[in-house]
Amino acid sequence: MDTFVGSRFRSAWDSSTLEKNEKTRLDSAKFRICVFGIGYVGTVSAACLARDGHDVVAVDVNQDKVDLLNRGLPPIVEPKLAERIRSVVRAGRLKATTDSLAAVSSTDISLVCVGTPSQDNGSLETSFVSRVAQEIGESIRKSTNFHSVVMRSTMLPGTMENIVIPILERTSGKRAYQDFGVAYLPEFLREGTAIADYDDPGTIVIGVDNDPLTLRRLLQLHAKFSATPRILSIRGAEAVKYANNAWHATKISFANEMGLLCKAMGVDSHEVMNALVADKKLNISPAYLKPGFAFGGSCLPKDVSALRYAGRNADVDTPLLDAVLQANENQIRSAFRLVAATGKRRIGLIGLSFKPDTDDLRYSPMLEIAERLIGRGYQLAIYDSNVRLSRLTGVNRDHLTSRLPHIACLLRETMSDLASFAEVLVVGNRKEFLKNSSVLKGHDKIIIDLVRIAPEKQTGSEYRGICW
Ligand SMILES: NC(=O)c1ccc[n+]([C@@H]2O[C@H](COP(=O)([O-])OP(=O)(O)OC[C@H]3O[C@@H](n4cnc5c(N)ncnc54)[C@H](O)[C@@H]3O)[C@@H](O)[C@H]2O)c1
Repeated sequence: MDTFVGSRFRSAWDSSTLEKNEKTRLDSAKFRICVFGIGYVGTVSAACLARDGHDVVAVDVNQDKVDLLNRGLPPIVEPKLAERIRSVVRAGRLKATTDSLAAVSSTDISLVCVGTPSQDNGSLETSFVSRVAQEIGESIRKSTNFHSVVMRSTMLPGTMENIVIPILERTSGKRAYQDFGVAYLPEFLREGTAIADYDDPGTIVIGVDNDPLTLRRLLQLHAKFSATPRILSIRGAEAVKYANNAWHATKISFANEMGLLCKAMGVDSHEVMNALVADKKLNISPAYLKPGFAFGGSCLPKDVSALRYAGRNADVDTPLLDAVLQANENQIRSAFRLVAATGKRRIGLIGLSFKPDTDDLRYSPMLEIAERLIGRGYQLAIYDSNVRLSRLTGVNRDHLTSRLPHIACLLRETMSDLASFAEVLVVGNRKEFLKNSSVLKGHDKIIIDLVRIAPEKQTGSEYRGICW
């Protein structure tokens, strides 16, 4: 079984007792598992794990749900769930109880699937998770087994570290990673297709920090699936769940907003969106989904603006497209703030065109940063191999010298020129930086990275990433 190991975890993985060649041949194993919460997630997980041959005890504070499950009946409506529960309860592989202490002490792994609803102010209700952590901790106190506590409830990054693990350690009197295991395993199934989603997951994400035994158990638990588990830090895995749901919500609202605009413009929105999703290179693909700097260029800002204008003319609100431009502006401001926070005044920009391998400056966010820095009295120099006065000809040269003379006079011919001038280097063009990074050796610079330069280039000088 292949595994993807996220970079933050890599060092812990390498030093773990799980040898590299061993992780590729982990077979599934049978476990005794206790599932907390007989709700939409817990019931499906419990029934499916029992179907996979594990011994499962489902725990809930609701006696009615416990009774229903013990009678082989599903406490929720979900296609194919009733048959699955009936067969595993009959086979004796799924039982339910309200006795959490007994459940934890008779099992190797706890999967916690209790609710984390929204409070009135939008914040996350963690009291159910805290209560369960306390119960599991009290049970672990009396146990001699290495019990793995695996949270599935959706929780903001840091909830494991700041709430769950401290409660587990306090109530058990033991140390996480040493006396018991902890992991975060985000759940991605959808109500209505939950069984199908369990049987064929789109992704498997395991959040674990320096806990090889729990990691091994979770890899074995997922060995039967074709999806490659992605191993992240606990915080990373907590965040993945939110990134997923925010992305899904954004997709839905985008499709709906395009639908309203299409309707107003006399176009069939389904025809349009079918054509959009057919492009697997740019549209339904990883393209444009890497955090970095603002977009620019001659098309995206102009066309988003034109669509908003068309919406206004047709009395169609476009809150999502409005926010897209606001978010872009916010990214430019974030970059500016990073520069200001250095306290330095001599700034070098690497890259000026709106993206690599072009000399096109139209709506370039790097040009925008340059304008703002000049406006605030910073001393500036700019290097972009495609935007050098010695190289530019015709219209582009005329444009730069006549319309942007205040920028033209800041252009440097080489990266060395730039490096000898600047205290801070703002990297807006990855290729340009990597091509010339050797000239920075020995220079003591603050590097502000807007484009995620290679990890090995992030060290040495003082390094600050825009959104990482
Ligand atoms: N419903 C979904 O489609 C879905 C999908 C992915 C993730 N999630 C996340 O999974 C979690 C559970 O969601 P759900 O929809 O299954 O919730 P749910 O409300 O249907 O079920 C939660 C269950 O937990 C039980 N419970 C509360 N306190 C308990 C305790 N101390 N001990 C034992 N049981 C206790 C409740 O009685 C209830 O039966 C949430 O964090 C949710 O955000 C939900």
